[in-house]
Amino acid sequence: MSTTEQTVDTVTLHVDGREITVPKGTALVVAAAEHAGVEIPIFCYEPRLGPPIGACRMCLVEIEGAPKLQAACTLTCNDGMVVKTAETSAQAKEAQDGVLEFILLNHPLDCPVCDKGGECPLQDLTFRYGPGNSRMTLPKRTYEKPLPISPSIVLDRERCILCYRCTRFSGDVAEDAELVARERGAESVIATFNEQPYTNAFSGNVTELCPVGALLPTAYRFKARPWEIVNVPTVCTGCATGCNTWSTLREGKVERILSRNHPDVDEGWLCDKGRFARYEPRDERISTPLVRALSGLEPGEWDDVLRTMAQRLRHFSTVDGAGGVAIVTGGALTNEEALAWKAIADSLDARTASAPIAAAADWDRLDAYAAPLAAIDLADAVVVIGDQEPTDRAGTIDLRIRKARRSGARLTIVGPGGTALEPDAQQFLRTLPAAGSAMLAALTAAVVEAGGANVRSDAKTAGTVEALAADAGADVAQVRELAGTLVAAARPVLVVTDHVAATEIEALAWALGLDQTDGGVLPLPVGANERGERAVGLVGGWDEILPALEAGEVQAIVLVGCDPVVESTEGERWQMALAQTEVVVSVAAFTNGVTSQSQVVLPLDVEHERDGSVINLEGRVQRVRPSLAPVSGVPLIEWTSRLAGFLEISIHATSAKAFNALAADNPAFAGLAWGELGDRAPLNRTRPAATAPTAGVTVTAPASAPADGAFRLIAPRPLFSGAAVERTASLVHQRAPIVVVAHVDAERLGIKRGDDVAVRHAVGEHVGTARISRRLLPGSVRINWRGAAGTGSTAVMGAQ
Ligand code: SF4
Ligand code: SF4
Ligand code: FES
Repeated sequence: MSTTEQTVDTVTLHVDGREITVPKGTALVVAAAEHAGVEIPIFCYEPRLGPPIGACRMCLVEIEGAPKLQAACTLTCNDGMVVKTAETSAQAKEAQDGVLEFILLNHPLDCPVCDKGGECPLQDLTFRYGPGNSRMTLPKRTYEKPLPISPSIVLDRERCILCYRCTRFSGDVAEDAELVARERGAESVIATFNEQPYTNAFSGNVTELCPVGALLPTAYRFKARPWEIVNVPTVCTGCATGCNTWSTLREGKVERILSRNHPDVDEGWLCDKGRFARYEPRDERISTPLVRALSGLEPGEWDDVLRTMAQRLRHFSTVDGAGGVAIVTGGALTNEEALAWKAIADSLDARTASAPIAAAADWDRLDAYAAPLAAIDLADAVVVIGDQEPTDRAGTIDLRIRKARRSGARLTIVGPGGTALEPDAQQFLRTLPAAGSAMLAALTAAVVEAGGANVRSDAKTAGTVEALAADAGADVAQVRELAGTLVAAARPVLVVTDHVAATEIEALAWALGLDQTDGGVLPLPVGANERGERAVGLVGGWDEILPALEAGEVQAIVLVGCDPVVESTEGERWQMALAQTEVVVSVAAFTNGVTSQSQVVLPLDVEHERDGSVINLEGRVQRVRPSLAPVSGVPLIEWTSRLAGFLEISIHATSAKAFNALAADNPAFAGLAWGELGDRAPLNRTRPAATAPTAGVTVTAPASAPADGAFRLIAPRPLFSGAAVERTASLVHQRAPIVVVAHVDAERLGIKRGDDVAVRHAVGEHVGTARISRRLLPGSVRINWRGAAGTGSTAVMGAQ
């Protein structure tokens, strides 16, 4: 990554008599706290929400030369500024007392029964700075409460201090405008737009932003008091972003998830999957080894089951030579668990697969161009390529992309349309579904054609711009326009959301010289720890195992933490292939599409039970910590080592030993040590030098036009899917089936917004509520199917 020498301009000022020197542009409230050690109390100030609005007046200070008290949060430090806070200014102190008294006029003062009590800035600041009593003798204003504004959040308007943090998050960060302030003056209240439920995928963040107990997570109401809980620092494994979290534990149950702001990863935001989804009820979990008997799956003894399993796997590993056994994972294991299964796979000469499509997960090929998430913040051009919403692969990336656009980056969305980011993008370049490969090749050709100082002259193209754009179904002038944007950009970031082979991405990155910029490429993995599983050697794709399974070359298969019957676009083929396989073992949290076809089922540890590390989509190694014991009582890594013993190999039986072994000889973990994995992990990666791509690009053309009356299906796996989401009642609205229909098709078929529409595809039928899109490619239909029904395949649609 290039570096630029910068000199930082500073200013010197006085705060309560203390001279401080800070970088120019520093907010006064920050400078005072960090450099002068003086707290200026705040409620509405929150820099992550954008420019300050000075709503609450809690931060009033005296500025020498200013005629009136000033809201410190709206000021940046100036040279020679002399500031007196309430510590040293009687006028500021009187104002602060007045503000607190005013804020509390109508407040119910119900701290003893408020869930925020003990963790509440209003309570804390009132204790520290409050006047001690109130002159309010009139009846207080009351409201109906609590108001459920969504299945996950309740609003208590009596506690609201109108700081507008929640509405600013909704309007300016998530950009959904679902939360609004209604009425005027003393009648002002927070409400949802048009009384509709607050359904944004990031809604839970307002429960943390709210500085009082006005917005609370429904599931945590009356569950715990601060002195009863333990907050365990860990990392969400709901997707590959790896947001840093606290899991709040009370009496053996995870009651709440809070963000643990890692600015480079999550900026303190979580999506509602990470915050609210739970693997519950625990008593429905697979908690003991199960063996198929005539009556179905029956509990077995650990050692009996593992010994028999080892014998059967050993048999099929030797009976017809190597490759008779397959170990299939889904990017959901910790690095240490994956290392254990890699050792088992090696001992059995087994095939492995850790990602749906092998070529799309060839991350090492892209290391020279890899962009960290934070590169999006500084990008001057962000291009999102693929059929899938970026948020479906990496939840909170949506918020970062929106922030980059607000900061001036030119945002281009490339795909078949019907996604949430398109309306706000500067350019929308429509393609056929599943055209990522052809589109990247077309862009590479257009970049080479455009030329320029940064474009590599030895870059190879797979055809002419016209021919490749036609393959992708894209307008050639728009392709050239986007190529021009990329060539001109100093810090372009390319976000690839689909299963596109890394060779196509590499060709474009090389042509653009992305390795020489502070931008780069950010392909989004499917599995939360897909990068980690690959780093320890569990490589290969499900797409490579399936034909071998169908041909009978694989006779024994172990599926660890994955369900290709539901999660693969080839679910039906998987189901049929598994039915004819000699030995099927699944390791799962709940019964699923593959457990019903397995002879042996073993318990899977899930989030909050695992002790280990994961690698996020940037390559950042982060520690996950358990708050609960595994439901089986035996951690997966421990029973895996017992299985290894029956196979007469030895593996590391604890995560600490496994991690240190990885650190000793695996470049992805170089320089790290288990005991030193901190709570805020740095990105332990440097870009290797880029070399000219050696692999040729074979463009995968999108599927040909469907038969008359059929639609091209766009059905990538949504973020809100999976075992935990499906079992979390408050997330039902996030899973509500949706059918996005192109407006010309809607007119032709007489479909209106809100109608129930049925879409029949190869894996099943999806009945959802119609949304009409003016950008979606006519002849296509987009659905949020719980599994991956097959982007680019065909479907038949009709009103219900
Ligand atoms: S509900 Fe909370 S965050 Fe929203 S305005 Fe009221 S106090 Fe502020
Ligand atoms: S974005 Fe991903 S990692 Fe972050 S909270 Fe959501 S599911 Fe978890
Ligand atoms: S924190 Fe300054 S006005 Fe609210």
